[in-house]
Amino acid sequence: MTDTATPPRLTIPVLLGSVRQDRKGIRAARLLMAALEARGHEPVLVDPLEDQLPLLDRMYKEYPAGTAAAVMEKLAALYRRADGFLIVSGEYNHGIPPALKNMLDHFLEEYFWRPSAIACYSAGRFGGVRAAMQLRMTLAELGMPSIPSLFTVPEIGSALAEDGTALNDRLPRQLGRFLDEFFWYCRALKAERAGGTPY
Ligand SMILES: Cc1cc2nc3c(=O)[nH]c(=O)nc-3n(C[C@H](O)[C@H](O)[C@H](O)COP(=O)(O)O)c2cc1C
Repeated sequence: MTDTATPPRLTIPVLLGSVRQDRKGIRAARLLMAALEARGHEPVLVDPLEDQLPLLDRMYKEYPAGTAAAVMEKLAALYRRADGFLIVSGEYNHGIPPALKNMLDHFLEEYFWRPSAIACYSAGRFGGVRAAMQLRMTLAELGMPSIPSLFTVPEIGSALAEDGTALNDRLPRQLGRFLDEFFWYCRALKAERAGGTPY
């Protein structure tokens, strides 16, 4: 018998890690948002310029119920219904951009039992992979371990147009495989979460 079940529509927050006024990362975020939509899923852009969080004082969970800022409540609600997190990271001095780390550190349990995937980029030829390696450690600690593949965008200024259009052939090919892998993990953990979590 053939399995004709429709794959679930996945809710995927796309976390962009730059607040620079000249930021290039928005191009990668736009590419990913369009690709997720084209594959029938629900991407939600989390832009630290729009969803402004303070430099970390209290984590979301440290606020008594109903007293956290509206933006924190909004993100917590989004993360709780998420099936996976797509992290869009540049590389600042071989490390994680501070806006991204700050945004991530505000939450914890809301991420648990979901996979993450890293899209990294840079102005140079390494595509932000040094930051991505550090990011893997943080994402694992946050309870959203990252999938094996990275989506890397070297020389982002000439690789992506302002609207996120890929300007070379390699990126769309790489992106298709990366998303196949990510969706597989999203579906697998979604099915497993439906049966409960260890804690
Ligand atoms: C503070 C700072 C540090 C940077 N460090 C690196 C680096 O270590 N490696 C690298 O490849 N590019 C580095 N760059 C260049 C970035 O890759 C490039 O500016 C990129 O567009 C930054 O992402 P954003 O524009 O989305 O903020 C750095 C840029 C800034 C602003």
